[in-house]
Amino acid sequence: MGKRILFTGGSGKAGRHVIPYLVAKGHKLVNLDLHPLGYEGVLDLKTDLCDSGQVFNAFTGYAGFEELETGNGVEPYDAVVHFAAVARILLAPDNEVFRINTQSTYNVIEAAVKLGIKKVIIASSETTYGVCFADGTVNPSGIPVREDCLTNPPDSYALSKVVGEQTARSFHRRSGIDIYALRIGNVIEPHEYDLFPGFAANPLSRRRNFFSHIDARDLGQIVNLCLHKDGLGYQVFNATNTDNSIDIPAKQLAEQYFPGTPQSEFTHDTEALLSNRKIREVLGFVDEHDWRQYV
Ligand SMILES: NC(=O)c1ccc[n+]([C@@H]2O[C@H](COP(=O)([O-])OP(=O)(O)OC[C@H]3O[C@@H](n4cnc5c(N)ncnc54)[C@H](O)[C@@H]3O)[C@@H](O)[C@H]2O)c1
Repeated sequence: MGKRILFTGGSGKAGRHVIPYLVAKGHKLVNLDLHPLGYEGVLDLKTDLCDSGQVFNAFTGYAGFEELETGNGVEPYDAVVHFAAVARILLAPDNEVFRINTQSTYNVIEAAVKLGIKKVIIASSETTYGVCFADGTVNPSGIPVREDCLTNPPDSYALSKVVGEQTARSFHRRSGIDIYALRIGNVIEPHEYDLFPGFAANPLSRRRNFFSHIDARDLGQIVNLCLHKDGLGYQVFNATNTDNSIDIPAKQLAEQYFPGTPQSEFTHDTEALLSNRKIREVLGFVDEHDWRQYV
């Protein structure tokens, strides 16, 4: 059955594919963003998520004009999907990246918990493992990178995502509600598959992303699976496609590009080095958009 969902940051790169996926699955969405998405059937509510008053207000509002017709007042929301952020370093000064991401995440989760919303999904990041925005060449604590690997990043963006995860964990501890954090890999939109031959020609260029990616529509599937899977409490999931984005066996990539890093078993020869084993096993994720279909 479709749910009523508050979606933040839906006008961005990921949201503009995830929202259509969720609408197609029958959900009713409101998009809280500084800029409109303009997608039919989805209300754009211009909201600055760093302002807690705006967040609480938006979370208690109608999802569209049609809801005035019922005479039932505002219906409660079932879930929040929080994607809004400054989505990497070097878009704003470091302290602004940290402030905006941590403050908006705190405001969103706090409002959800205090208003009785029972499911929150937040966008965390592959960068939490500390490799993506490291100064120089750094290894993760294990390969393939799984959710139990160390998160200890050196940059303000990844730090803001680690703080976001801890914020989620703290609110879960107090309220008991389900809060799932997605450590999203490099998001690939449908038109970006023309980048893949370049990845194969220069594999080193993909080392910081662990040679992995997530199709933006498959990210929609992951969010939908999270919306339907209840009772897991606080969880962290890597959100990537199953195979690495370069046709080189995973073991070879690991040995060539992450020498000396402790290795655990791969689920199969081409497993993404940022492993999605957990979403496959716990949520039942099955790729719909393997990159080889498009390259
Ligand atoms: N794109 C990637 O490869 C990638 C990888 C890992 C994690 N992520 C995370 O996934 C999420 C979505 O990423 P994206 O690529 O779509 O980012 P994006 O920058 O394209 O979109 C982010 C959206 O958030 C909105 N926003 C920012 N500050 C806001 C505020 N104060 N109030 C309201 N809205 C605000 C922006 O207007 C924008 O529409 C982010 O949390 C990002 O950190 C992205």
